[in-house]
Amino acid sequence: MKLKSKTARRLRHHTNPFTFREEDLVLPNWDQLLGGPPEEADIGIGLGDFLAEYASLHPGVRLVGMEVRSAFCAEARLRLKEQQLSNAAVIHVDATRYLTRVLPPNVLRRVFISFPDPWFKKRHAKRRLVNDDFVKQLHQVMATNSELFVQTDQEHLAMEIPARLEATGYFRNRMGSGHEVAEPITEARTERERFYLKRGWKIWRYLFDRIDAPRSHDKK
Ligand SMILES: C[S@@+](CC[C@H](N)C(=O)[O-])C[C@H]1O[C@@H](n2cnc3c(N)ncnc32)[C@H](O)[C@@H]1O
Repeated sequence: MKLKSKTARRLRHHTNPFTFREEDLVLPNWDQLLGGPPEEADIGIGLGDFLAEYASLHPGVRLVGMEVRSAFCAEARLRLKEQQLSNAAVIHVDATRYLTRVLPPNVLRRVFISFPDPWFKKRHAKRRLVNDDFVKQLHQVMATNSELFVQTDQEHLAMEIPARLEATGYFRNRMGSGHEVAEPITEARTERERFYLKRGWKIWRYLFDRIDAPRSHDKK
């Protein structure tokens, strides 16, 4: 990760998302922030390199970055300000618990989740971003014909996340069950992605379509 400010250089990269409390939640005014609800989202933005690069590549898209670490949010906002990118906003939130509180239903056409979970130990599994409740909320805030891009460097998550997404009945792997997508879907790169690409390490990437009327929907 390339860190900008002295504060950012001192930051640990992992935080327990449960340190975010409901009182910390600030409900965004999307008209004020972006001139309307966001159309695309990056969830778990880290320091916001991808957010800024994607926003500059797509100036006509209203973009939101969500991050549970307030110091990372501040750093990402700084990047957007420095680069004068007014089509992207950063929201401080535990996306796993409060996604449907900060976003209106059926707005997102594209969602990115990149290297979401440092929590490989079993006892920390409950801290993971992509759990069943999150997937259900994600389905609610995504629009008809929308897509979800997920990438990870962790082999067990590369099996677990796609299986979970498909098991809920809310998402379908565009490449066929269990299959990776050959290329990233944008030129923008995340901090982690650059780190792994430089070293030639394996990255698992998946592309999902939101299923509009999943059979299991009524049961969930
Ligand atoms: C390993 S970093 C990856 C950052 C960036 N996406 C990248 O690829 O470089 C995972 C990020 O997700 C954030 N995160 C983890 N759980 C989250 C949650 N429940 N809500 C919002 N952000 C979360 C972490 O704070 C961290 O910044």
